Formats: sequence, structure tokens, C-alpha cells
Amino acid sequence: MHIDPLEKKWLYIAFGMVGLFLGAIFLTALIPGIHPPSNVETIDSARLHLSEEFAEDNLGVKINPDGTIRVTMVAGRYGFFPRHVTLPADTPVTFRWASIDVLHGVHMPMTNMSTMVVPGFVAEVTTVFPKPGDYPLLCNEYCGTGHDFMWSKVTIVAKQTWEREHPSQGGKS
Ligand code: CUA
Repeated sequence: MHIDPLEKKWLYIAFGMVGLFLGAIFLTALIPGIHPPSNVETIDSARLHLSEEFAEDNLGVKINPDGTIRVTMVAGRYGFFPRHVTLPADTPVTFRWASIDVLHGVHMPMTNMSTMVVPGFVAEVTTVFPKPGDYPLLCNEYCGTGHDFMWSKVTIVAKQTWEREHPSQGGKS
């Protein structure tokens, strides 16, 4: 069978690119340990109010004994609850998310806080916010007619301000 040399060249290029991309996937998976954050922790979305962590009274900001912060939030049509949380800058913050209804995506512009919130799973993101300010929390997965209006607010304050207002930090309480 005759293959035109020019066609052969493009075949090599095409296979080379496939090889390159597959190689990149395997390298990032094996060396920096990058993997899709899924199926790690399940939760019954219909019974969130009965779960300990995601019950309405337990949502919001908690200070761990080591001074790190845990934020438990629920995503539902159309908002992230609680609607407004205040957090310190330069402090590790772990967000834990659960959906009460459908698929949502939570995104905090200008930061690396972004994850899908899949019904039935707990989404967890740990990050540090370097810059104080007011940030919106936006939904970036289409979830219904109110999707465009699905947003809440996060206020980042300087670490010193936060510590003044939350003197129990660091297990000193
Ligand atoms: Cu929630 Cu779009």
C-alpha cells in the first residue's frame, strides 16, 4: 500500500501529539499527584439537615484547635449559605461544600477557590487568601433559571483584625 510521504509526515505528527498529551497526563498524575477530586466523601443530599456537619445551625466558620479555619457551606438554588462569611487573610482555610439539590459550581474570582459541588458528595478545598477585600462567591455551573443570580459574599480581613475579633484562636480559649 502506498502512502504519500506528506501524508505520512502528518500521521507521525498526529501520533506524536497524541503521545505527547498522554505523556503529559501520566506525568502530572504520577509526579505532582494531580487527580480529579471526586468520589472521596459521600453524603445524602436529601438529609443534610439531619447530618451533624451540614445541619443549618452548624454551617459557617469554625476555628480548629490548631488555628486553621474550617468553613462549612451549603449550595442550593439559588445561593451559598451562609450568605456572607468573614475570613482572615494569610491563614489556611478549608471549605467544605454540599449541595442540597442539583449540581452547582462555586468560584471565588481572583482566588484559586473553585470547585464543583456535586449532589451526593462533599467537596473540599483548602486555600490561603493573601489579599483582604470583599469577594463574590459565584455559581459557575448552570443550575436553573436563577443561576445568574446565585451568589454570596466572602469578606477577607487582615489576620490581625481577625485575631482581635476572634480571641479564641490558637486554642487559647
Ligand atoms: Cu448554582 Cu448555577
